[in-house]
Amino acid sequence: MTTHQSNIIQNFIAKICVSAEEATYRCKECHGWDYKGKEGAYAKGSHYTGFSGVYEASQKKSIQELEGALKGSTNKAHNFSKYLSREDISDLSLFLKKGLVNTDRYLDKKGNPIGGDVNSGAYLFNTNCAHMCHGGPGTMINFGKPDKPEFVGTIASKNPWELIHKVRSGQPGTKMISAIIDKWSDKDILDIVAYTRTLPKDLIEAKKFEGHMMSGEMGHHQSGIDTRGFGPFTR
Ligand code: HEC
Repeated sequence: MTTHQSNIIQNFIAKICVSAEEATYRCKECHGWDYKGKEGAYAKGSHYTGFSGVYEASQKKSIQELEGALKGSTNKAHNFSKYLSREDISDLSLFLKKGLVNTDRYLDKKGNPIGGDVNSGAYLFNTNCAHMCHGGPGTMINFGKPDKPEFVGTIASKNPWELIHKVRSGQPGTKMISAIIDKWSDKDILDIVAYTRTLPKDLIEAKKFEGHMMSGEMGHHQSGIDTRGFGPFTR
């Protein structure tokens, strides 16, 4: 790693992690939602950092070695033990070892799902995600800003890797279910990706979708648009 990269890590930890209201250590800022760092979706664009991914390391290294990396064994700057408890570091290492998935199983390089059945996905979404939480159109919770909302459909289209991470792992600090814990199959994940990409991505689409539902075309799903922001630390 270059000095430049070390400096970025140190600044990141100092500014982003520590000043955050709730301490969040957003591994994805460097390693990517696809766990592939510069080899993956962060190979270009605003998130480009040139950092390596964690997927390969998770396959090759032991849990102890992964824990070590989080305590600075591979690089002093990459020591999170001041900010994360020992338990958190163990949990995170376990997640790295057992919880990561090669997202190429679901998505091509451009983020298009490799297969997936929209109808089965709709069933999964409506039985697991819509009721009480995201609503039929996936617009009940806005992860963005009131005027620039991000709904389930927005994430599914713009960042399907993030969607898959959230579907599999749940959302920290909420009661969101986890496909890993609920033992969803690869097909279930693909189906949900395929379906959620059909959901509204912005306010205009959300209004249209509501219109369809009112006229009965989409069946009896829960609807409603919430423009309350969820704050910056829920993504
Ligand atoms: C500011 C950027 C940044 C953040 C944030 C960050 N990392 Fe890293 N991470 C790196 C860099 C750079 C390396 C070292 C790559 C190298 O060896 O050259 C690394 C290495 C690793 C490795 C070892 C990879 C290997 O090949 O040995 C693991 C595991 C890891 N990070 C996990 C995490 C986790 C989990 C988090 C969140 C708590 C995290 N990282 C947060 C930049 C970051």
